[in-house]
Amino acid sequence: MWLSYNLAVLVLRVQEVEAVSGRFIHAVILVTLLPSLSFARPTSAAVDPQDFFENRIRPVLVNRCFACHTDLKSGGLQLDSRERLLKGGNSGPAIVPGDPDQSLLIQVVSWTHARLRMPMGGEKLKEQEIADLRAWVKMGAPWAENGNLPPAAPKTKEFVVTPEQRSFWSFQPSHKPSLPEVRNKAWPKSPIDHFSPG
Ligand code: HEC
Repeated sequence: MWLSYNLAVLVLRVQEVEAVSGRFIHAVILVTLLPSLSFARPTSAAVDPQDFFENRIRPVLVNRCFACHTDLKSGGLQLDSRERLLKGGNSGPAIVPGDPDQSLLIQVVSWTHARLRMPMGGEKLKEQEIADLRAWVKMGAPWAENGNLPPAAPKTKEFVVTPEQRSFWSFQPSHKPSLPEVRNKAWPKSPIDHFSPG
């Protein structure tokens, strides 16, 4: 009898604890969800892909990869343009836009690749940098052309003269105007006098 009473109390206690911890868990879930709910939209909407590349991706490539992957072409790979990443090196394309897991570049910087770990001989990239690279490949690997690199020669657009511009007075062919009338027909000694009637 005593035992069963104790058991019943124990069961009640456990239920209580469960109820309380359940509420606690709900509270934790709410607290963790709230910021992401309120901030997820503005940040994702505010990220300009080209800015993301310029601010988060290019510095990593420049500082951690360019030493070996521009002119040096280590592994046959150059990482200084989107085309070159797509063309890839000895093992094929370095990125598959939209698919980080299939992208060699992501595999080698995450150190999940069977053989290659980049930067070769160097410290692993920061987790945030790897996450940024993943996000960048996921968004299609947008590239901003004119950042730190010298700008490409500007495209020369054919110069178009509008009819309005063409009618500007100084572009008109010169022609002999008819002489203005003068009141005193005796005044003009030469045609020019018609323009300054006395
Ligand atoms: C110190 C030089 C060095 C640095 C820095 C470096 N790499 Fe490499 N990388 C190499 C060499 C060498 C290879 C060829 C290795 C091999 O195939 O055995 C290579 C190969 C690769 C390959 C495979 C190319 C292919 O097609 O086989 C990828 C992808 C790559 N690197 C990405 C990177 C990235 C991304 C960074 C910067 C985070 C980086 N590497 C930094 C030297 C470097």
